Amino acid sequence: MQVTPRITTTDLLCLERGPGPCAAILFGASGDLARRKLLPALAALAGERRLLPEHFFLLGYGRTPLTDADFARQVTEACPGAAGQALAGRCFYQTGGYDDAAGHAALAARLAELELRFGTGGNRAFYLALPPELYAPVCERLAAAGLTTATPATGPWRRVVVEKPFGRDLRTADELDQRLARVLRPEQLYRIDHYLGKDTVQNILMLRFANRVFAPIWNRDSIDHVQITVAEEVGVGHRAGYFDATGVLRDMCQNHLLQLLALVAMDAPPRFDAAALEAEKLRLLDTLRPWTPARIAADLVRGQYGAGPAGAGYCTEPGVPADSATETYLAARLFVDDWRWAGVPFYLRTGKRLAKRVTEIALTLKPVPHSIFAPLNPEDLAPNVLVMRVQPDEGIELTIQAKRPGPKLCMSAMNLDVSYREAFKADPPDAYQRLLLDVMLGDQTLFLSGELVRRSWQFWQPVLDAWAAAGADGICPLQPYPAGSWGPPAAARLLADDGRRWRLGA
Ligand code: BG6
Repeated sequence: MQVTPRITTTDLLCLERGPGPCAAILFGASGDLARRKLLPALAALAGERRLLPEHFFLLGYGRTPLTDADFARQVTEACPGAAGQALAGRCFYQTGGYDDAAGHAALAARLAELELRFGTGGNRAFYLALPPELYAPVCERLAAAGLTTATPATGPWRRVVVEKPFGRDLRTADELDQRLARVLRPEQLYRIDHYLGKDTVQNILMLRFANRVFAPIWNRDSIDHVQITVAEEVGVGHRAGYFDATGVLRDMCQNHLLQLLALVAMDAPPRFDAAALEAEKLRLLDTLRPWTPARIAADLVRGQYGAGPAGAGYCTEPGVPADSATETYLAARLFVDDWRWAGVPFYLRTGKRLAKRVTEIALTLKPVPHSIFAPLNPEDLAPNVLVMRVQPDEGIELTIQAKRPGPKLCMSAMNLDVSYREAFKADPPDAYQRLLLDVMLGDQTLFLSGELVRRSWQFWQPVLDAWAAAGADGICPLQPYPAGSWGPPAAARLLADDGRRWRLGA
């Protein structure tokens, strides 16, 4: 069944504010992230959305020797159409090393010249689309060259965006944080988790806290369990170098999945701002039941794809060592030990080369307390399930029981299904558009604080330690699954042991 929502909007809140004059300096400008995500996002802001300031330029920086014209061509190739043209006219490129003083001095001179020409007032957003080991050296070089020096309140702003992963465990994240803290103030540093920039992820907060209807059921009295699925069809692709040293726990669980969990399970923050959201997320992380060896063995499933209907196995992918023990799949049963959620399992899973690309959060409600429809018992009625579809086919779905045409007691499950595209007659913009705009606007609400990143690592650290100590065959052994399936059979057992099943797939 399709329900067409009556959409009312508060115009004031829907007016998108554009930033003031500024420059964006993109490190790793000829890399994969720039081509696939950052340049198209900037082009969309420059083009149809008209949100880049009139006084703006983009300066690419990288080791690959390119001229301004080469870079402008890369921009139009990455962003075909008028939007790419609109951006390319304001793009420049500076060749230089990442840990080299001469390169940064040349960057400083180029920036000064362009800032004068474009009247950007010295406001700068540096985006480090670089391997994580370069974050600290580059920030230190930028600071030494005076490029990130800012006088709060009066002077131009200087901001630096770093991608994930922020460290590769608790110790390295702490070390990185300390090095960056010596050269940047907290309000200058933007740690990205691009899932937070997705409209459908922000909508978790709107759904929960801008509506009255869900709050009374959002707890252990009504919710039987929660499933969070982030399934990808893609394999490791051409990212073997990065991914094989990382694995899905570090790549997806420490950040994206934990953030989704936090938004679903946390209490209402008093306001929608960075500090209030952070405080609630930190409290939520505090309530997660810690990992013990017994729980790692019982509540975690670690997998790696082998050959299957969707293609070759992980270990035969280009660049992956034949004996790699890196996990490409993880399923976990988590518990939030507080009054709201005591006893409610949260099942999380994510993996590469799964049957279908889908990210969704499903809350299954408990049966009705008593069935008036004898001989049916409460358990005979299919439960209500509220599904937030994050991507693709973004939307919200609620399964209810309904009278079916036919005999008096005939009923069946029916879906109230709202698609974002149909409801709002628009596609949700790519997350990077929102996040780049927020960096230029100086809004950290959708970014992660150092403490949040630290506590996320702290939560997973016992698992990383146990795996490192026991190897792939030890505690929670690596289980194969066919490429194109829904993951290892053990992941289905994780729920079957509790008398439940995954909503999608096995
Ligand atoms: C990135 C991970 O953060 O998120 C990738 O490094 C993953 O491995 C990607 O493929 C998934 O993002 P999205 O937006 O496509 O779901």
